[in-house]
This record gives sequence, structure tokens and C-alpha cells, in this order.
Amino acid sequence: MKDTHRPLAENGRLRRIVYSADDIRHRVAELGREIGEAYGAEDDVLVLGMLKGSFIFIADLVREIPIPIHVDFLVAGSYGNRMTSSGEVRLFYNPRTTIAGRNVILVEDIIDSGNTLLRVLPVLLQGNPASLEICTLLHKRLTRLPKDARWVGFEAPEEFLVGYGLDFGEDFRHLPYIGAM
Ligand code: IMP
Ligand code: MG
Repeated sequence: MKDTHRPLAENGRLRRIVYSADDIRHRVAELGREIGEAYGAEDDVLVLGMLKGSFIFIADLVREIPIPIHVDFLVAGSYGNRMTSSGEVRLFYNPRTTIAGRNVILVEDIIDSGNTLLRVLPVLLQGNPASLEICTLLHKRLTRLPKDARWVGFEAPEEFLVGYGLDFGEDFRHLPYIGAM
């Protein structure tokens, strides 16, 4: 609600607000409803969130999914302190999470170069899930993936975005809105 005042607190490091906290809230509620409609209540659904960037999105999204689900996390990283992907994706995967026979929804903050998904998808598919879908809050549409996102929050502009979990060198993750640098 105080979106218009927050940028002052970021010391002018953001050029503009791209999605307000309200925009995000409404869209996340829609996504949760759509995901709930795609599965039956008896389906074994596992929401796998990609840390760290999607931590706020996951927390908000799962509360909008009106069917029983389980939640777990993966950690992958590639950016460091830069605004372009290094192409080198480190994947720290928790092998104790059972994927086999489950309906997995991989939750991403943003699809940019697609390198992270190219690295992670084969690993997940090796675990023999009953189904695998991708839900991303933001999609820059810069790349074609062998398997694209079924649920996309927003078609993102070709800018470096921060806030609502997205960082630049670990700054800005905590902002309730998404801004462009
Ligand atoms: P990709 O591997 O290039 O598709 O990017 C995947 C990851 O890079 C995302 O999950 C983000 O953590 C990070 N990333 C990509 N674009 C942005 C951006 O505009 N702002 C902040 N992080 C980004
Ligand atoms: Mg990330």
C-alpha cells in the first residue's frame, strides 16, 4: 500500500516500480487458483521452490493453492554480483525429497537465459516424477526451453528486476514490490 513511498528508502537505486505489491498479490492469487484447478485433490502434488530468488513467491503462492500439496526446496545459483548469467549453474539438490510418481511443480522467480532450468530439469526428470510443470513469476522470453513454463505470472521487460525475492548482489530481496535497476 505504501509502494509509492518505498523507493525513497532505496536511495534512488531503482529506476521505477514495475509490479506493485498489489499487482503481485492479485496475480499470485490467480496463479494459485489455476494450479488448484489443474490437479485433483487426490493427486500427490509437490511444489519445489527454487531458492533463494523465489522464497517470497513460494510463500505467497502455496497459500493460494486450494488443494493439498507438499512443499520442498532446491537451491541453484549462477549470478553472483552481476546482472548477466554466468552460464555456470551450481545446483545443490536435496536428494532426500522423493520425486518418483509425484506431480512436481517447479517454482522459479524468473526465467532469463534459461540456463538454470536447462541444468535442473534433467535432474528432476531422472527422478521419474508422474508429471513435471514449471511455474515462474516472471518470464523474459529470451529463450526457448525444451519444456517451458505452464504458469507465468508476468511477461517481464528486458530489464534487471529486483525485489519480492529477486536480488542484485543480495540487495533488494526484501522489497514487497518489483522494481527495475
Ligand atoms: P537464468 O538461468 O538466466 O534463466 O536465470 C535464472 C536465475 O537468475 C533466476 O532464478 C534469478 O535468480 C536470476 N535472475 C535472472 N534474471 C534476473 C533479474 O532480472 N533480476 C534478478 N535476478 C535475475
Ligand atoms: Mg534464482
